[in-house]
Amino acid sequence: MTSASVASSSTASPLHNDRFLRALARQPVDRTPVWMMRQAGRYLPEYRAKRAEAGSFMDLCRNQDLACEVTLQPLDRFPLDAAILFSDILTIPDAMDLGLYFVTGEGPKFRKTVRTPEEVDALKVPDAERDLDYVMRAVSTIRGELNGRVPLIGFSGSPWTLATYMVEGGSSKDFRHVKAMLYDTPDAMHQLLDKLAHAVTDYLNAQIRAGAQVVQIFDTWGGALSTPAYMEFSLRYMEQIASGLIREQDGRRVPVIMFTKNGGQWLEQIATAGADAVGLDWSTELSNARQRVGHRVALQGNLDPNVLFARSGAIRAEVGRILESYGSGPGHIFNLGHGVSQFTNPDNVSAFVDALHDLSPAYHRQPQGDIPARQQDS
Ligand code: CP3
Repeated sequence: MTSASVASSSTASPLHNDRFLRALARQPVDRTPVWMMRQAGRYLPEYRAKRAEAGSFMDLCRNQDLACEVTLQPLDRFPLDAAILFSDILTIPDAMDLGLYFVTGEGPKFRKTVRTPEEVDALKVPDAERDLDYVMRAVSTIRGELNGRVPLIGFSGSPWTLATYMVEGGSSKDFRHVKAMLYDTPDAMHQLLDKLAHAVTDYLNAQIRAGAQVVQIFDTWGGALSTPAYMEFSLRYMEQIASGLIREQDGRRVPVIMFTKNGGQWLEQIATAGADAVGLDWSTELSNARQRVGHRVALQGNLDPNVLFARSGAIRAEVGRILESYGSGPGHIFNLGHGVSQFTNPDNVSAFVDALHDLSPAYHRQPQGDIPARQQDS
């Protein structure tokens, strides 16, 4: 499949850089594609300027032109192979009327929490196209503005991860309310997760219809569960979502990436839950992950974001170590093992991407006589 053959059948412009989609399909590429979780954000001075202009983070998300501008900021600085919609996972609970707000230094908060069976019962499942129309407008604006430069990733939180924020009323260290609810009233927890799974499926499908070419489900807090609780309360609902997603749009597959932070021990189960790719944090070796599930799914990861606080020589060495750990051949998407820190120096991100560009082609040499697929930079 060349760039030309992935051109969409609709009015959408052809894709000029399809490395990311090819790697997701485990097809040969010229070098390892790369993007970063939270690539648009506070570590960029130009982001901080736009956020100040918008007034607040949610105002930035709600204005499609500003959301589009900040989505493109990291692409203008670094030669990344994918764009990710600028938004947040908490837009769904916000659309469920829980009253999302942000307190500087404390992270997201909700005015209302959901803890009792009655509160779960009363919760309405939003209609994504109506209640989250600002997200869909941002997706189509970004897709138009990208004009085929790189693919656009849409995203959502996993039901379990969203539930942790809704039940706790914000971020949590110990998850005491949500875990008490899980063990005391598992039926109510299942009802909550089922409502969220329906909401997420509708939300991601609306993003796909609006122009998202790949979707990622962020299960940031799945790794806080015991193994049986993870299977029953997190993975099962991600699997339900994957089975309800639009998997082909404009004649092209829409790949799904599942990222469970600290989920390395459950890779085999995640790899059979309907994802095209599995995201890994830095605690799992890629060589080990590839051996276990590389025949089924592509793998995304897994540089420790804190490596970006080190000097360029150390960054390059870690990039090299991770490439070597995955080894030769397709199916690897380079990423961080979690979001980039707001305290990261953008120059160190440049050092990271430059090292990858320098070192990764050696892992994609075609066997003699085979003509490498044509790749284009944006
Ligand atoms: O990756 C990208 O560039 C796309 C944008 C994106 C944001 N949040 C922007 C954001 C994505 C994919 C998210 C996902 C998200 N949001 C997750 C899952 C991924 C992960 O990092 O684990 C979670 C748990 C959230 C919830 C959330 N939203 C938190 C914990 C915070 C930080 C709050 C704080 O004050 O530190 C947010 C706000 C947020 N989301 C910011 C950005 C750029 C910072 C807002 C600001 O102050 O400008």
